[in-house]
Amino acid sequence: MNGHPGGTEHTRRMIALADLPEGACVLDMGAGSGEAVRLLRAAGYDARGIDRESSGEGVEQGDFLHMPYPDGRFDAVLSQCAFFVSGDVQAALREAHRVLKPGGTLLLSDVFFEEPVPLLERAGFSVSILEDMTDVWREYYLEALWRGESCECALPRGRCCYWLIIGRRSSNGFV
Ligand SMILES: C[S@@+](CC[C@H](N)C(=O)[O-])C[C@H]1O[C@@H](n2cnc3c(N)ncnc32)[C@H](O)[C@@H]1O
Repeated sequence: MNGHPGGTEHTRRMIALADLPEGACVLDMGAGSGEAVRLLRAAGYDARGIDRESSGEGVEQGDFLHMPYPDGRFDAVLSQCAFFVSGDVQAALREAHRVLKPGGTLLLSDVFFEEPVPLLERAGFSVSILEDMTDVWREYYLEALWRGESCECALPRGRCCYWLIIGRRSSNGFV
């Protein structure tokens, strides 16, 4: 299953909501074909992506759970529909926290099987914007199933929600 719920319109909106400083250095974790990297570059940001199946310009091949970038390298980290797919949301948050500058911005939209705010706070982020996109996600998931595509990951049982989150790196993350 490729892409993310809400498509390009959602990506543009998330970038606008984050209100990043001019020329900010941004990393897309799980960038796929590099759509968000293209949008960020077109908006004047210094953007790049990482994906284990890199296929797009500005996206390098690699595992975002073990990234080659130094601590505090980026002003912002964006990720759409990729942390859950990786199978280890906590490790993904830990890496995002590590490569972000103190006070750096997290732009995240993803599936969660638990309340996102306590999880993010434990990971060392404060949440400034939280929007429930579960209806959009449900439609996206059903359409993918209808086309005969399947999710790259097994969905556990339980109530899941899809959230758009804008946060900041605020404190030490979990170890
Ligand atoms: C549903 S796709 C979303 C792609 C892109 N973010 C978008 O919105 O179009 C999930 C992406 O996460 C990538 N991914 C999952 N786990 C990863 C990992 N550990 N390291 C790097 N990429 C990963 C997959 O290869 C895939 O491209």
